[in-house]
Amino acid sequence: MSELAILGGEPAVTIQDPEQWKPPIDEEKEEVFKLIERRAISGAGSGLPKEFEEEFRQYVGSQFCLTVSHGHLALASAFYAVKGGPGDEFIVPTLGYIGTYAGALHMGARPVFCDIDPNTLLIDPNDVEKRITKRTRAIFAIHLWGNICDLDALTDISKRYGIPIIEDASHAHGAEWDGKKIGSISDLTGFSLQGALPGGKPVCGGEGGIVTTNNREYYERMLAYCHLHRKGLKEELTLPEYAELDSEVLGLKYRAHPLALAIAKVALRSLDYRNERKDAFRRKLFEALEEILGVRPVRSYPKAKPAGFYGGLKLIYEPDELNGLPIEKYVAALRAEGVPIGHQYGYGGTLEHLRTIFRKGFDLWGYGRSPIGGEFMGLPPFEGYKLGDFPVAESLAGRILTIPAYIEPKEGFLEQVIKAFEKVAAHHKELL
Ligand SMILES: Cc1ncc(COP(=O)(O)O)c(C=O)c1O
Repeated sequence: MSELAILGGEPAVTIQDPEQWKPPIDEEKEEVFKLIERRAISGAGSGLPKEFEEEFRQYVGSQFCLTVSHGHLALASAFYAVKGGPGDEFIVPTLGYIGTYAGALHMGARPVFCDIDPNTLLIDPNDVEKRITKRTRAIFAIHLWGNICDLDALTDISKRYGIPIIEDASHAHGAEWDGKKIGSISDLTGFSLQGALPGGKPVCGGEGGIVTTNNREYYERMLAYCHLHRKGLKEELTLPEYAELDSEVLGLKYRAHPLALAIAKVALRSLDYRNERKDAFRRKLFEALEEILGVRPVRSYPKAKPAGFYGGLKLIYEPDELNGLPIEKYVAALRAEGVPIGHQYGYGGTLEHLRTIFRKGFDLWGYGRSPIGGEFMGLPPFEGYKLGDFPVAESLAGRILTIPAYIEPKEGFLEQVIKAFEKVAAHHKELL
């Protein structure tokens, strides 16, 4: 009989329910109850919402910090801050998520997708540079699954072309580049607060978002964009373009819900501990997997300190190292061994350029008015994307594997998982 569990052998992983870290539910309830009792469940710019913004601002070391209702609105307000609008283009990697740039699209700007670095799965700065035109208003760098983009190369491009970088750190609260916290480096950084601990965004409160910047003008533009009736708004609007606006500014109110921020405030307390623990697990797992045929862990740039839990830890399957064993068989064998391994194409089931709206175009506002339709505000007709446009992302999207990011795994679990990978690699010929 084979040693492989899928062929009747004993599974390598026998430890069940490996995560021992417990989310701080009592603390969350306490913070939420306090607000309910005080009837402080609406408003922004004072009380708990302001305290949370100040804590997060100090945590990342930025000059300004605003909370909003969702991560995608944090990124939308960042695009508004850089004066993004109809007829602009923005560059964004095709391995990503529409929440990064949905706001920019709905402001009338066209996504220009770019390819990824095959080792980190993150935006490829060389490919970015090839796609810059006179219409490029911003570059969205997504720190996907908490791994950090090459911010040196992107900052260099930004300086040479005068194009701002907007970082999407939705998965990366607490991450660093060259010893500096993400959120304090580029022109603007957006974070999501969506989900619940432990598997949601690293700081989360159900729904919500944060945007940070060191630029006073960007800050004031974002206040004007979507912070109607925020306490202290008038005093904060100091620049000539905005100082005369009244507290209804431009009419939009996308502020965060105080109850969501109360829960997020609790999550922030344990962020460093959770990140450190997870990183210790990640390092040990990745070090061991580097030596095993069939998988390679996603790499990080030397200056990057990854963070976060959302999306788990990513590995890339290398079928050539296992005589072409199909990925489905490889994953099934690991699952039979008891390894909690996931396999999905890309980030959300497809690469961004292959979504229907970007393959075929879409008449966004009807009557032929759309940044992804015919000619629009100086944009040439939208040609549509197709399979073959991004060879690196397309060759990797179907080979990305996921292991959950553990904080306090039970003793011996990691070793059992490593054993399972070794076993499947050693016996893979029995599966051919
Ligand atoms: C990479 C990325 N960007 C942006 C967002 C948008 O965040 P939200 O869902 O809070 O709007 C998400 C949410 O999952 C995300 O994963």
